[in-house]
Amino acid sequence: MKQPRLDKYLADAGIGSRSQVKEYIRKKMITINGNFPADGAVKIRPEQDVICYQGRPVIREVFVYYMLNKPAGYVSATKDSSCPTVLSLIQDSTHKDLFPVGRLDKDTEGLLLITNDGAMAHRLLSPGYHVNKTYYVEVSRYHTIPPDAVSRFQAGVDIGEKHFTLPAALELLSPTSAYITIQEGKYHQVKRMFHAIGCEVIYLKRIAFASLKLEESLSSGESRPLRTEELQALKNLVRMGEK
Ligand code: URA
Repeated sequence: MKQPRLDKYLADAGIGSRSQVKEYIRKKMITINGNFPADGAVKIRPEQDVICYQGRPVIREVFVYYMLNKPAGYVSATKDSSCPTVLSLIQDSTHKDLFPVGRLDKDTEGLLLITNDGAMAHRLLSPGYHVNKTYYVEVSRYHTIPPDAVSRFQAGVDIGEKHFTLPAALELLSPTSAYITIQEGKYHQVKRMFHAIGCEVIYLKRIAFASLKLEESLSSGESRPLRTEELQALKNLVRMGEK
């Protein structure tokens, strides 16, 4: 069984930063089984030790992370009165607080992260972190992708917002298909960007999100927990890495 350091355990539980936690220990605001620890380096046994902060037990939330291959027809919400939600595809009856990290349109398929880790979700969705999202796109054959689309998306296009879109990388696969990597997550962003260059998106699938790549063997509607190394890479990306 893992025996983390007290200061790391408390910081991960959201009690404060490592230096704040050290201060709390020094001020005798922390107890382990009723005793004052000497310092933050003390190893604890989370399953059996009772750790208290200001006399109240510290409950560490258990976070879970799933990679879902979203099918079309499901809404990216926790509840909906008329459509099935992405949460109905997750086989987890233990965690009642799961939610999708961001949204894919009802007709969009592909990689969606489902978790109960609000702090991580907040960072992944925060514009400041410029998290990459890559989509496979097909457009209507009546309006094929123009040759200058790569440079136009690189420069940013007008989708009717206050600012042009941030630089996006377009990799053309054929006159009607491409991969596009964007850093933002505005409503219908990819569809609106293609509309801005005269194309109509008829199929959209997210194949990468942040450091995650959609696992090809995951069939539509299937999910699986993130692997340890996938989770660590995500944490590193949003600077929640364990030290
Ligand atoms: N952009 C879109 O237009 N739709 C999505 O679902 C995701 C990105």
